[in-house]
Amino acid sequence: MIKIGIIGGTGLYDPKILSSVSEENVRTDFGLIKVKTGEYNGIPVAFLPRHGEDHAVPPHKVNYRGNIMALKKLGVVRILATGAVGSLNLEMRPGEFILVDQFIDFTRNRVQTFYEEGEKGVVHIDMTNPYCPELRKVIMEAAKILGMPLKTKGTYVCTEGPRFETPAEIKMYSSLGGDLVGMTSVPEVVLAREAEICYATIAMVTNFAAGISPTPLTHAEVLEAMRKNNENLKKLLVKTIEIMPPERNCECQCALEELGSLG
Ligand code: HPA
Repeated sequence: MIKIGIIGGTGLYDPKILSSVSEENVRTDFGLIKVKTGEYNGIPVAFLPRHGEDHAVPPHKVNYRGNIMALKKLGVVRILATGAVGSLNLEMRPGEFILVDQFIDFTRNRVQTFYEEGEKGVVHIDMTNPYCPELRKVIMEAAKILGMPLKTKGTYVCTEGPRFETPAEIKMYSSLGGDLVGMTSVPEVVLAREAEICYATIAMVTNFAAGISPTPLTHAEVLEAMRKNNENLKKLLVKTIEIMPPERNCECQCALEELGSLG
């Protein structure tokens, strides 16, 4: 059984940190999902590029439910997700890693649950700590060992995309308490909790958000910023995998206690 999954965001499309890589097509209720599986130091790891290997899937078209269900079916109990974000907070600068701890959801057209109707019932999942506190601690520890700067709090505002925001929207998100803006953390984080999988996001600031940045935003700028920091991101992921404790002691694993788990 594979216990650790990596969902690679913009700029992280290939599992070069893994050896003995093979490709699996996992059948889910939401279609066939292509996942690469391999090993790091003998630890089995599954890798899923969120936008596809050639960044062909835009944020609003990502098969979030298929992806999470595929990882669940492979036995994944912890997901390390990465994501490019714009910053609304002058203290979170391009090039920095932020371990987000909260989100504000501005998505519009995404199903956020596996429990839509029928016999499975209705689920109102708790989101007090949306990103697994235990997994976040492991990532913090990994960054500490590496001597890598990591900001350990931040509120991720998730937009529908795929367009970037207006400066007026950014001003509003900022006044609501947002630090970062991206397009993918929701519903991924919500579905992971419904699947009782621990989930954490390492956000990489690629730019100051619209109206804060002195220039109009481009996808090329986001990609270039990710490319520059990709090696550090991989180092952080690898160290996190290396020091991951075998057992989980958090509440993610019984998030559905009221109802029984996802079949
Ligand atoms: N806005 C939304 N998503 C993003 C941004 C941004 O400025 N930068 C990287 N992903």
